[in-house]
Amino acid sequence: MARTFPRGFVWGTATAAHQVEGGNWNNDWWAWEHTPGSPCQEPSGDACDHYHRYRDDLDLLARLGFGAYRFSLEWSRIEPEDGEISIAALDHYRRMCAACHERGIVPIVTFHHFTTPRWVAARGGWAEPGTAERFARFCGRAATHLGDLIGRVCTLNEPNIVAEFGYRWGLFPPGRRDAAERSRVNAIFLDAHRRAAAAIRDAGVRAPIGLTLALQDWQAVDGGEAVRDRERHDMEDVYLEALRGDDFLGVQTYSRVRYGPDGLRAPEPGVPLTQMGYEFWPEALEACIRRAAALTGLPILVTENGIGTAEDTERVAYVRRALQGVLACLADGLPVQGYVYWSLLDNFEWALGYRPTFGLVAVDRATQARHPKPSAVWLGGIARANALDDP
Ligand code: GCO
Repeated sequence: MARTFPRGFVWGTATAAHQVEGGNWNNDWWAWEHTPGSPCQEPSGDACDHYHRYRDDLDLLARLGFGAYRFSLEWSRIEPEDGEISIAALDHYRRMCAACHERGIVPIVTFHHFTTPRWVAARGGWAEPGTAERFARFCGRAATHLGDLIGRVCTLNEPNIVAEFGYRWGLFPPGRRDAAERSRVNAIFLDAHRRAAAAIRDAGVRAPIGLTLALQDWQAVDGGEAVRDRERHDMEDVYLEALRGDDFLGVQTYSRVRYGPDGLRAPEPGVPLTQMGYEFWPEALEACIRRAAALTGLPILVTENGIGTAEDTERVAYVRRALQGVLACLADGLPVQGYVYWSLLDNFEWALGYRPTFGLVAVDRATQARHPKPSAVWLGGIARANALDDP
């Protein structure tokens, strides 16, 4: 099999504002981190101080060999209260986009990555239909300010996870446990995506616009197909079947899950587990790309793939196998446009705090010093060569 990727294949790494910026006290996650009884292990605090250190981080990214950087706008900074826009915050993100271009890096900008301003949450958050239009209004304002510098737009990051974890399992804010509400939230997110995409386009943005979804390789065992299909439908297909007219789909995959007739199975004995408790299963990416491409007909950008591990050699092994899957998809003619590793930095892994380490670059939590891991140099080399090396 060819080891070379097509010309123009996008190689990047990803972060999200709340996980790296620090000091994002004006959103629902900060509040959740400080809510007694929430599952949060620790507060996000200063995170990686990326809000101030982004230039150094982009220097590092460029030096390593990557050509794209996916990051998110923090809505609660840009619109701290209903209708009040902070030009200073918009200017910050404009400088970030410009800093990318100065280094030959394409800015892939996510407009919502899990966090929602407190004032939106107080008005009902994502269970309130009016939030879709509020989000679109924010997107229009931000796109008007930044649009000429944006290389690619992700409207919402993994709305299926926000709906599932926030409204069905109580793990994310607002901590609800109501399957019916989860379904309503999915519908509101889809509405928000459509309105946001239109508002961003209307602001004059010519870059590709898409949604990103958390997708898994859902395997049925012992006749678990029906149960598997039902769960997967509510988690993924409600979105995949509704995406029409987008420019691409962002696929974000980490592992597989196995379903029997009795429901979710425990990890298969003998398969190693990652820090997240996921099975080490890099082949999931290929399976998810194939299914997402078949169901949507859209070009695919891998907007997240990666592993939380303390063993950096395991990261290289994981990414190598995942990329072999991407090459297999490409060999079959599937339109895979690029691969964005999650994450550039070890960062705030939501309710699990700072323990899981997904980064290509370690961060000293006391000094904020950055330490690139061998995997960063390895993957940067793959990016430069636009080809997978021999193991
Ligand atoms: C995600 C998330 C990231 C996580 C990553 C690792 O979109 O799931 O975008 O915020 O940190 O997936 O779990």
